[in-house]
Amino acid sequence: MYSRIIGTGRYLPERILTNLDLEKMVDTSDEWIRTRTGISERHIAAEGETTSDLAYHAAVEAIAAADVAAETIDMIVVGTSTPDLIFPNVGCLLQERLGIAGCPAFSLETACSGFIYALAVADQFVRTGQARRPLVIGAETMSRIIDWTDRETCVLFGDGAGAVVLDAAEAPGIIYSKLGADGRYRKLLETDGGISNPPEAGQRAALHMKGNEVFKVAVRTLERMVDEVLEANDLKQGEIDWFVPHQANLRIIAATAKRLDIPMERVVLTVAEHGNTSAASVPMALDTGIRDGRIKRGDLLLLEAFGGGFTWGASLIRY
Ligand code: ACO
Repeated sequence: MYSRIIGTGRYLPERILTNLDLEKMVDTSDEWIRTRTGISERHIAAEGETTSDLAYHAAVEAIAAADVAAETIDMIVVGTSTPDLIFPNVGCLLQERLGIAGCPAFSLETACSGFIYALAVADQFVRTGQARRPLVIGAETMSRIIDWTDRETCVLFGDGAGAVVLDAAEAPGIIYSKLGADGRYRKLLETDGGISNPPEAGQRAALHMKGNEVFKVAVRTLERMVDEVLEANDLKQGEIDWFVPHQANLRIIAATAKRLDIPMERVVLTVAEHGNTSAASVPMALDTGIRDGRIKRGDLLLLEAFGGGFTWGASLIRY
């Protein structure tokens, strides 16, 4: 058995924070942000709006697009590093709202590659006959772990959620998944507190990043990974129809696209609209490409992501 995508959805919170808004908050400029990152604006969750709220809206859209009854979902896997609570996990909160009690529901925290990891895990359950119709989500409220006085990070991130419904099928679907991690790089991109290692009293945990060092390792790792994916699947450069990358930075995306020898017109780009939404970015870009009709049934897609940990992953999919 293989898994194939039968529906996608995405959700962005209503409030938009533009580069011009950020100019009023920190010492930055629209020009700097756009030329260094490709980002024009990002969406910010309303007060009280949580990661599971965003995930819910994306999930409802994906289930509607799949044209299946929610009760037929038999597994929920969520990639997120910004859960509503320590527990119950976001998958359980979502399950309750969807009214589909009983099936396994869990989340995993691999930062920006959370969706790719979640997709690979769900695919393994389908391949071994343990699940037939998983719901896979990437959802984040990055705005909650941003230091809004740090111009080096606050201009980069935003909130959002993307969802995919998978279905068991006799042909792929998901052809190949590649996952990796290297904890030796943990200091280049991390939060300064958590649960068992809380921030100082009265502080909330915030994200810190050595941006230009992350940039170099990200480009190197992604180039190596796409080479490995092509080789493992007997594919030549230029044979991918659509590249659906993690939307962190236009320059990182362009470097990887060059390695794949794929023109930028065959790359789904959404980073300008919402910045880096961590685990949400790949499923949101996928949904965008499918809904606007660019990605068609039968197309060969390469999804990839890289993020804190470091963690990384890719998914080769026949849509
Ligand atoms: N506005 C204006 N100036 C700024 C800002 C800002 N928001 N932020 C930094 N600068 C300044 C710096 O202080 C520095 O000034 P100096 O030269 O006087 O010291 C100058 O701009 C250049 O800074 P760099 O960090 O060298 O700029 P760089 O070209 O590397 O761009 C960026 C920074 C955009 C963060 C880039 O390194 C990047 O995108 N890195 C990848 C980070 C990322 O995407 N992380 C997310 C998770 S991992 C992933 O998803 C891939």
